[in-house]
Amino acid sequence: MLKKKFLDSPGLANLWYLIEPVLISQITIQQILSRIDIIDIVGGFVKLRKRGSNYLGLCPFHNEKTPSFTVSPSKEIYKCFGCGRSGNAIGFLMEHEKYSYVEALRWLASKYDVPIEETETSPEYKQQQQVADSLYILNGFAQKYFSDTLFQTEEGIDIGLSYLKERGFREDVIQKFQLGYCLNRKDAFAQVALSAQYSPDILQKSGLIVIRDDKPADNYRGRIIFPVHNHSGKICGFGARIIASNDKAPKYINSPENEIYIKSKILYGSYFARHAIDKADECLLVEGYTDVISLHQSGIENVVASGGTSLTPDQLRLVKKYTNNLTIIYDGDAAGVKAALRGLDMALEEGLNVKLVLIPDNEDPDSYVNKIGPVAFREFIANNKKDFILFQLEVSLKDAGSDANKKSGVVNRIADTISRLNKAEDFTRQQEYIRQCSQLLKIDESGLNALVNKYIRDRISRMESKAGNEEARASEQASSSTLILPDDDSFLLLQRDEMNERAMVKALLEFGTRLWDDRQTVADYIFEEFESNGLQELIDNQDLLRMIESFRGWYKEGLDPGPKNFLYHQDIELSKLAISLMETAYELSVNWKEHYEGPIPSRDDLYKEEVFSTVNYLKLRKIKRLIDENQRDMEKTHSPEEQLTLIQTHQHLKQLEIELTRNLGTVIFR
Ligand code: GTP
Ligand code: MN
Repeated sequence: MLKKKFLDSPGLANLWYLIEPVLISQITIQQILSRIDIIDIVGGFVKLRKRGSNYLGLCPFHNEKTPSFTVSPSKEIYKCFGCGRSGNAIGFLMEHEKYSYVEALRWLASKYDVPIEETETSPEYKQQQQVADSLYILNGFAQKYFSDTLFQTEEGIDIGLSYLKERGFREDVIQKFQLGYCLNRKDAFAQVALSAQYSPDILQKSGLIVIRDDKPADNYRGRIIFPVHNHSGKICGFGARIIASNDKAPKYINSPENEIYIKSKILYGSYFARHAIDKADECLLVEGYTDVISLHQSGIENVVASGGTSLTPDQLRLVKKYTNNLTIIYDGDAAGVKAALRGLDMALEEGLNVKLVLIPDNEDPDSYVNKIGPVAFREFIANNKKDFILFQLEVSLKDAGSDANKKSGVVNRIADTISRLNKAEDFTRQQEYIRQCSQLLKIDESGLNALVNKYIRDRISRMESKAGNEEARASEQASSSTLILPDDDSFLLLQRDEMNERAMVKALLEFGTRLWDDRQTVADYIFEEFESNGLQELIDNQDLLRMIESFRGWYKEGLDPGPKNFLYHQDIELSKLAISLMETAYELSVNWKEHYEGPIPSRDDLYKEEVFSTVNYLKLRKIKRLIDENQRDMEKTHSPEEQLTLIQTHQHLKQLEIELTRNLGTVIFR
């Protein structure tokens, strides 16, 4: 669907990136890309040493002692020979900082002082963006104010800091998490913020102040302040904990939902945990702010908190950005476990590997790690991980006891759960669960298998009826056509065809803006050929087609359509494709070397030859396909007149084929 739209709208439509609501103009993007220095960018996060023409460092994506992470300034890519991760500078930012493409561009724009030109966004969106910006600025201001209050005022030190120290929090950790204290006065913060020109509207929206008796009043009076950071480290909200226990007041007051504090999308601590999660390939999930901070203090940094509610799909997606392994560490009390179990079927559907660790009664991770110490705590986690599905089964079996009705309910529920492990890569896991669960349930394995399959079928048919008949038919066709595997010969041919399509597009990318003759450029020539032969009939590969259309769009607008801009294309598929195109080796054909005396010309000298050959090859392929089609047609019965037309067509096509073959160039690709 998307692809089709893309192809149908050449020109301007391709110039604006539509994936995120803010549209950055292609000119801005190209300005940003032209400044990119991959050594400078990666070097900001990884210590690099020069080694030959490359740079070498310890891979930030996996644990290693000897460096295998290389950055090539000439190719503008990084590659780790340990874990295999590779990409360009933007890919690095996306992987390392978990930025989206647009966020990475914005980061680079501010690093290199490139002003961002945006397309017309809706006034509502602009307004929303401005509010968001103001809220971030205000929150940053408030955080500094509350931290200063904690460390520098008498009340802050006596009440706030001494409370935190009593609970065992070290000063470096308090500073790392930017904790603070709000004075127990009516409007101390409100006055400071208002005199610093923050608007009452924004102050209220942030939840930092409330209106009481028509006057602004501090909302977090006498509380410890926990700033909540978004995944790029900006403060999107606060949690404020009461100090003295008080039955009337809530223990925590959190920021209200606003443009930047969207509870369902936030995991507390994700900013501080992101690298540790990457390295451990595991995310620990706890309930509370203090659990996260205590575990950090104990050297366990791959931990985030959900705020005590069940996980939302957005939060799960956030976890999945980092790892597939989610370990939930909850209090053993019934409420905690229930909260842990809720919403987790979704985690399974997302393909997450969910484990559960229950902390002994009356403790939470914070108190428990303080009680037994970091080493024992780590061991406890490692030794008490329960598989989520098996745990769920154990709990409900215990619940059901000997009640046959209840037990059949359990069987159905577990079959439903297992059926959600429905991705191809989950198949072995699914089989393993069926085996283990049938043993626990003391039922026949094949029976459970059948039940699981029934749940899968039910879900698919529900989805299909939702998607509508047409779409369902389309997917059926698609899946049946993938079953036709090419035999070996046609597969090789397919590969060669693919090679030549790629070679043509590579030539377009690299030589497109050079002169073809005194009348036109290489790109002009190629597009003319496309026009008269039909682009879709020359190129099979949809990604290459998209690349050509994207090139055409840029070229027509007078922007640089060179390979570099494709290396950084927002469409990751295109970016990968560009990288692989640029890496493809080229060789002169043996023929050429045999017949040519004198200095061997370089590929650069031969670009016209290359363009001509590659275009001709594709035209030739099209002719061959037409001949085949015509041949098949001739095999059917026809009237004499029809037969004649077919024969004439055949002869004409054969003639074209001969001419093209004669012209087929001397450069081959491998
Ligand atoms: P401590 O009791 O200081 O160790 O805090 P905690 O973070 O361990 O809190 P607790 O285990 O009681 O609750 C877990 C999480 O639930 C907290 O971190 C909060 O995010 C949330 N929470 C707890 N109490 C409240 C409340 O009264 N209001 C709101 N909105 N959230 C709360
Ligand atoms: Mn606690």
